[in-house]
Amino acid sequence: MDNDGLPGRRERLTRRSLLVGIGAAGGAGAMYAAMGVLGLAPSKETAPVRPTGGAELPAPYVPPQPSDFSLRGGSPAKVLVLGAGVAGLACAYELGKAGYDCTVVEARDRVGGRSLTLRGGDAVTELPAGTAAIGETQRVAFGAGTYFNAGPARIAQWMVTLDYCRELGVPLEVFVNNNASAYVLTAGMKAPVRARTARADAYGYISELLAKATDAGALDAELTGPDKERLLDFLSEFGEIGQARGYTGGERRGYRVNPGVGPGAPLGPPPSLTEILSQGLGRMLTMDAGYDQAMPMFQPVGGMDAIVRALAGQVGAGRIRTGTRVTRITNRPEGVEVAVEGGAPLKADYCVAALPPHLLAKIPGNLGADVRSALATPVPLSAGKLGLEYGRRWWEIEDRVYGGATETDLDVGHIWYPSYGFHTERGLVVGYYNTGGDAEAYNALSHRERLHRALVQGRKVHGGRYGRDLLSSISVAWRRQPHIEGSWVRWPSMSGLSLLQRPAGRVYFAGDWLTHLIAWQAGAFESARKVVTELHHRVLKEG
Ligand code: PHE
Repeated sequence: MDNDGLPGRRERLTRRSLLVGIGAAGGAGAMYAAMGVLGLAPSKETAPVRPTGGAELPAPYVPPQPSDFSLRGGSPAKVLVLGAGVAGLACAYELGKAGYDCTVVEARDRVGGRSLTLRGGDAVTELPAGTAAIGETQRVAFGAGTYFNAGPARIAQWMVTLDYCRELGVPLEVFVNNNASAYVLTAGMKAPVRARTARADAYGYISELLAKATDAGALDAELTGPDKERLLDFLSEFGEIGQARGYTGGERRGYRVNPGVGPGAPLGPPPSLTEILSQGLGRMLTMDAGYDQAMPMFQPVGGMDAIVRALAGQVGAGRIRTGTRVTRITNRPEGVEVAVEGGAPLKADYCVAALPPHLLAKIPGNLGADVRSALATPVPLSAGKLGLEYGRRWWEIEDRVYGGATETDLDVGHIWYPSYGFHTERGLVVGYYNTGGDAEAYNALSHRERLHRALVQGRKVHGGRYGRDLLSSISVAWRRQPHIEGSWVRWPSMSGLSLLQRPAGRVYFAGDWLTHLIAWQAGAFESARKVVTELHHRVLKEG
């Protein structure tokens, strides 16, 4: 089933593939020009910005500040933020910089939304599957120091998330997103091989074919004489084929016995070209070629939730109401009223709704039929992750794999090795990270069944050691997480997106689902900055 918005099962999960149908964000340039007029933007930036559909270099973000009011009069407004995920917390944090009176309302009993790090003592309750009356609750039994980023886990260098880590003092370490020593395994392979071996063979044979085609004159229409020489030169290095044209394997494939005092024993010659082609390794070998997946990537030391905890700390616990479900959102000419379960209605000048769109669409109120139908447009998707805590870091000790991922086309998708705690006693392996139909299949199971199925798959890569030394485990099916109900969304068509990038009366919308960075915390931050800038601009103008 095509549930991840991608062309087929176990297709490449890329940022672009998540964006099917998303239109231009627009607006930023015009908004910044308006800020310039208001004297909010630095003067060198006040030149008119052409509306080029969001493709222009975005204006630098200028956080609201108290002096904006002392210069222009007026005062910070009262704002209700619905949802304490990254988008909601970032809105409250940024508005708080200028003294806005923000209250964050969160249905779950913890902040962070999908930015969820699980540790010993935590509990994970899921919505019931199928006809079951109650959902399963898992208790996390990890030892001290073990954590599992059940949601976001990696940050690319160019993402605004890193700026927030800097600003909030969240310490970072490298997240190993690509490890030549990890494995690849596809249905076309008899046994797993190290990524370095698979890559050497793919590059080698491709180079051989291209060199032979060049020699045979098959590329004469495309290449000049000097081009051909340079291409052959390139291929001799790229595929390690030397001048011989034929790929026979080399050191890059790896060693059976590592060099040391002795020369070591290389792995030996590669499988045949036919065998390599039948392995279907294209996706496995280019996983980290995506703009958002290239090394080095980063993670907060001690768990991804360090970011949301720092944000919540800045906002202040007194301003965050967890365990509070929103039941109605009413726009009035002079303000917004938000009804919550088990309490008096909340009132404010403005509201930022930073909930998943599919849940927002179900909350009654008077947002209007067009807004409601736009909110119902994005399709919530499935992803799942399984954390396996081992009492012995066998992947380091026996496989010599320090972080990174094994890429498979098994239903577990990816197997991740921890990028923290090297050489400590325990370690947390991600036994599956899957999406689409694979995630749905696991979602439908109990935790025990998920665990069993994932261990069967993992043994195909690691053999018997995959089941040994296992201390505890926990799985999260994002589609079954209360008050979230999805890993991220897919827009089947562009319609509705631009409508929701604008406020509906006094209600603004924020979240990664409104950006070109769906499924990234960076999307939530970028969306929050846009909303905060526009709301602040409006408050300054309207008083
Ligand atoms: N951000 C998520 C991840 O890194 C989902 C995603 C994957 C988004 C690949 C874009 C590309 O796993």
